[in-house]
Amino acid sequence: MRLRGRKGIRESLESQTDLVILNPEEYKGKWADLFGNGKPIHVEFGMGKGQFISQMSYRNQEVNYIGIDMYDELVRRASDKARIAWAEEEVETPPNLKLALANIENILDVFEQGEVERIYLNFSDPWPKSKHARRRLTHPRFLDKYKEVLNSQGQIHFKTDSETLFEFSLNSFADYGLQMTNISLNLHRDGLNEEHVMTEYEQKFMGKGMNIHRVEVLIGEDALKEYQEIRLKKYRYQEPTV
Ligand SMILES: C[S@@+](CC[C@H](N)C(=O)[O-])C[C@H]1O[C@@H](n2cnc3c(N)ncnc32)[C@H](O)[C@@H]1O
Repeated sequence: MRLRGRKGIRESLESQTDLVILNPEEYKGKWADLFGNGKPIHVEFGMGKGQFISQMSYRNQEVNYIGIDMYDELVRRASDKARIAWAEEEVETPPNLKLALANIENILDVFEQGEVERIYLNFSDPWPKSKHARRRLTHPRFLDKYKEVLNSQGQIHFKTDSETLFEFSLNSFADYGLQMTNISLNLHRDGLNEEHVMTEYEQKFMGKGMNIHRVEVLIGEDALKEYQEIRLKKYRYQEPTV
């Protein structure tokens, strides 16, 4: 998706210092101070027009959210959506949300080791040609970076309409030795639960009757330990009582 910068976009972003971060590298290691509330930080890489991150921040106020995109026009659109979402509560500045202009290639310049608890990858560009595989956001070279910035509870939540990107990603996670859980090839088969927040692309693809694929990937040590304990309990053989 290539959008041309329009006159006024930059000025609009520069005037929104309460919500928009144009120099995210300056906050490396300082995001918790910026939010100032000690809550965990969840990030969406490639937020597009920002519906998901805006709604998530409004619905889950016990979490801090950062939406990232590399196009200023999209960050601007996301800022409009965020303010509209929060207007219901008559709040002008969402207290737990920041929208940052950055290229995901550079996230090691934006986040310190262990600064993030969860990464959302929603409908990332599929880059279907194999010569472009390295650009896919689930390529192991990106997993190296995600592993660095995630903390001990760290997880990646990934959803996509693209069967080929999903297949590539499952292999990439597996080759990397990562535990996957809650894998779905048709997320909306059983309808939507009330807590599910849809992205703009998700709505579009659902409208066309396409299946949405989703997986959660456990990266942090504690996240993995907790998962294994739950699995063990679930599958442990129970002696029948006489
Ligand atoms: C297909 S759109 C999905 C948007 C949104 N997540 C959704 O589901 O509606 C992919 C988004 O990722 C952004 N993106 C792709 N590569 C990126 C990168 N390297 N750094 C930052 N943003 C990126 C694009 O600008 C675009 O907004």
